Amino acid sequence: MSPPAPLPPLAPGALPLAGHFIAYRQDPLGFLMNLAARGRIVGMRLGPIEAFLLREPEDIDRVLVSEHRRFWKDRMTRGLGRVLGDGLLTSEGDIWLRHRRLLAPAFHRERIAAYGNDMALAADRFARSLQPGEVRDIHADMMRLTLEIVAKALFDSDVGPRAADVAHALDVVVGRFGDGSITLFPWLEHLPLPSNRRSRDAIATLDDVLLGVVRARRARGGGGSDLLSMLLAAEDDAGRGLSDREMRDELMTLFLAGHETTALALSYAFVLLSKHPDVEARLRAESDAVLGNTLPTTEHLARLPFARAVILETLRLYPPAWAIGREAIEETSLAGYRIPKGTQLWISQWVNHRDARYFPEPERFLPDRWLGGLERSLPRFAYYPFGGGPRICIGNQFSLLEATIVLATILRRVRVRLLERRPLSLLPMITLRPQDPIVVAYEPAPKPELLRAPVSAAP
Ligand code: HEM
Repeated sequence: MSPPAPLPPLAPGALPLAGHFIAYRQDPLGFLMNLAARGRIVGMRLGPIEAFLLREPEDIDRVLVSEHRRFWKDRMTRGLGRVLGDGLLTSEGDIWLRHRRLLAPAFHRERIAAYGNDMALAADRFARSLQPGEVRDIHADMMRLTLEIVAKALFDSDVGPRAADVAHALDVVVGRFGDGSITLFPWLEHLPLPSNRRSRDAIATLDDVLLGVVRARRARGGGGSDLLSMLLAAEDDAGRGLSDREMRDELMTLFLAGHETTALALSYAFVLLSKHPDVEARLRAESDAVLGNTLPTTEHLARLPFARAVILETLRLYPPAWAIGREAIEETSLAGYRIPKGTQLWISQWVNHRDARYFPEPERFLPDRWLGGLERSLPRFAYYPFGGGPRICIGNQFSLLEATIVLATILRRVRVRLLERRPLSLLPMITLRPQDPIVVAYEPAPKPELLRAPVSAAP
């Protein structure tokens, strides 16, 4: 009988009890890069939890695609289920499949296209509201803008003034559950801490607003052209739709997953453009040539390849979803190692997107690398800002459309100048957030005639 396959090695330096927790907390992204440099699958211990980092695209492919049934979401993501309930991000098995099928039509490319105009109008309103030279935190601005866009797409205007309450409540909840401490030490949640009270209040606000919107719309008999109306009308093969509670879970998930990620992508794109005026000039030239004096729409997208390259390169360098987690449902093997049942597996876009085998000079911002068909020639999990396999981001088309339209619309009116030249300091929570405000000056765009000319919404 052959001996059982070995477990993957554990990185050196684990302390009693804390394991690698302190080193990880000091510099999570650097820690993961070091782990990846040590081997194909290497382990870390964060307090009581042991997790293994996968770095090879073919191993990631097995976990997310070819053998995905052997894995479900990791403990940390499942912990978010306390807030997001059975929403798409956190549910599993039959519930997930039923909901994914019900939601999918609302995210088809043709359906999403209808939101393009609203996206451009919202971005243009924002750009026009700026005073020349105004100094602001662009991350906060992009959060507000993408919130407005997703609220409009999801509920048209029904949430209206309460969209900000929802955003604040989500922020509180993500802050509470997103840094992993409750996953590592679940008893923290039961202590009489102010953070626990705030998080309970926030969940009550979310229930109140979202259930209120669903019930009010049902009472009106549905109608409307937003995602809410599509979800209310959706039925499975047995003619069953989503209950109020299921609707609340999905709306909260879409709100959460749908605004912060795109806001981060946009904020980082503006930071990179500010540091690379040559790239910004080319982007502006492309937009001017394609758009003339109109706002971008979905139809323009295919004619803005450089804008797409800028966004792909931004998502490579600063992936808003910087890591994906899974847990082995049963014992399995990967790359010659034994993966026991219950093992936590980490897969990190931050690590893979900086692999010099696929991205020469990985730290440099080089949008041109995407212009020659790189996307098609890469192995599937060398680049995966939206994940992959059955759990791939349902909002990926929405988000790419939004990022391109918002970028092109804002750039036609303003030039963003970064006032702080220090490298960005990043805070990997559920998403990859900037640690500090990103302070910029919004200056008039180089073509002042565009600022004066009237702008129409469609070509
Ligand atoms: C730049 C923007 C975005 C990024 C980087 C991003 C990234 C991701 C990633 C990596 C996953 C997979 C997680 C996993 O496998 O565990 C995911 C799932 C998901 N995303 Fe996004 N996302 C973005 C925008 C959006 C938008 C705009 C929406 C909705 C309006 C959205 C809704 C979702 C949902 C519902 C899921 C769960 C899908 C499922 O499991 O069936 N995302 N996203």
